[in-house]
Amino acid sequence: MAETFDLAIIGGQCWTPEGLQEVDIGVRAGRIAKIGSIDPHGGGAIIKGEGLTILPGVIDSQVHFREPGAPHKEDLETGTRAAVLGGVTTVFEMPNTQPPTTDATQLADKLARAKGRAWCDHAFFIGAAAENARELAELERLPGCCGVKIFMGSSTGSLLVPDDDTLRTVLRSGRRRAAIHAEDEPRLKERAAIAQASGSPLAHPEWRDVETARRATARILRLARETGRRIHVLHVTTAEEMMLLAEAKDIATVEVTPQHLTLEAPDCYRRLGTKAQMNPPIRDGHHRQALWQAISQGIVDCIGSDHAPHTLEEKAKPYPTSPSGMPGVQTLLPLLLHHMQEGRLSLGRLVDLTSAGPARIYNVANKGRIVVGYDADFTIVDLNREKTIESSWLASRCGWSPFEGMRIKGWPIMTVIRGHTVMRDDEVQEQAQGMPVRFTETLAAQA
Ligand code: DOR
Repeated sequence: MAETFDLAIIGGQCWTPEGLQEVDIGVRAGRIAKIGSIDPHGGGAIIKGEGLTILPGVIDSQVHFREPGAPHKEDLETGTRAAVLGGVTTVFEMPNTQPPTTDATQLADKLARAKGRAWCDHAFFIGAAAENARELAELERLPGCCGVKIFMGSSTGSLLVPDDDTLRTVLRSGRRRAAIHAEDEPRLKERAAIAQASGSPLAHPEWRDVETARRATARILRLARETGRRIHVLHVTTAEEMMLLAEAKDIATVEVTPQHLTLEAPDCYRRLGTKAQMNPPIRDGHHRQALWQAISQGIVDCIGSDHAPHTLEEKAKPYPTSPSGMPGVQTLLPLLLHHMQEGRLSLGRLVDLTSAGPARIYNVANKGRIVVGYDADFTIVDLNREKTIESSWLASRCGWSPFEGMRIKGWPIMTVIRGHTVMRDDEVQEQAQGMPVRFTETLAAQA
């Protein structure tokens, strides 16, 4: 008799532990139950995979969704809707909301808001501050928390840990890998006049210059060694930092964004104005090349979108009063598929950077690979579908993308989360049923 599954994906090219293979996948109770040959007559739902590529669900480990505090930019419903439309199955959300996520009450509030409204699985960062530095060891173990985020330089919101003494206290409080925004606050303050005087976003990478990023990354690597704490350096932008990080693979993992891999100064500032303004800034071609080189050398461990929506009205304020950040959760995978088609990375590298990579960095339980026993999270793409990124497709409440008009070959056409098809052909399906992510380091606390 044919085996029965709740869902079977038949005849697709699947990214299995053996690489790309034409095999079927059977799902039971939200988990992968079989990888192999499946008789389609066993009952249950079927996805016909012919002509399609089945990837492990994409994990975007860096998004800012603005709820609570600024739902006119984004909320958990619109942000996660954008995620699943872009083929993303899991997001880790940043703590610089209003109020910031710095205690157990704020974390519980975000988890409650996400329930029944989040389209994808999710976890939230706790923000480090001088006030909560000694409680972080306890906070980072709470269910639904993906770890601690440290802003070494000021960006959107008030979270900041600028000095070495507080950084030491923060790094000594807790054991999970800490996520770092590495820009040196004293140097940012010293050079703020450059931005004020210029009045143009062309000055953004000059104000927040290469040395601002290099100095912070060098400092945090030194402190990580001193305190024995593992770190993850977010949105790395310079060749200089990549050289330091290559010497620190035992203690530090590395993230880059699609924006820094795709856009280039000064062209992006001329073309997009303050829409191209983000922290750390988009830099010139020399640094962009260095990021691609670091991808091919294996120095980079994951790619996160740093989805940071602001409205067009807010972006229209004169620089530097205009806010920093661009949306990106929905365009992360299409952009990477585009780069793959252009020969900048292989499918295997793309998969590692967007699923197994983030799962390894943050010790995600049962996600990030197509493995029997893991959650049935799949990003299904048509590598031959050609589309243009258009505002009508974008779900983010901010309503724009710096990549509008870009022609892409390769498109996410289905997003499956724990066996539920939540997106099909650019439409969300059923209802929002995203769940908090589980982490191997804190499973006991969640039992
Ligand atoms: O450009 C940025 N925008 N960088 C950050 O670090 C924060 C983000 C935001 O939340 O707007």
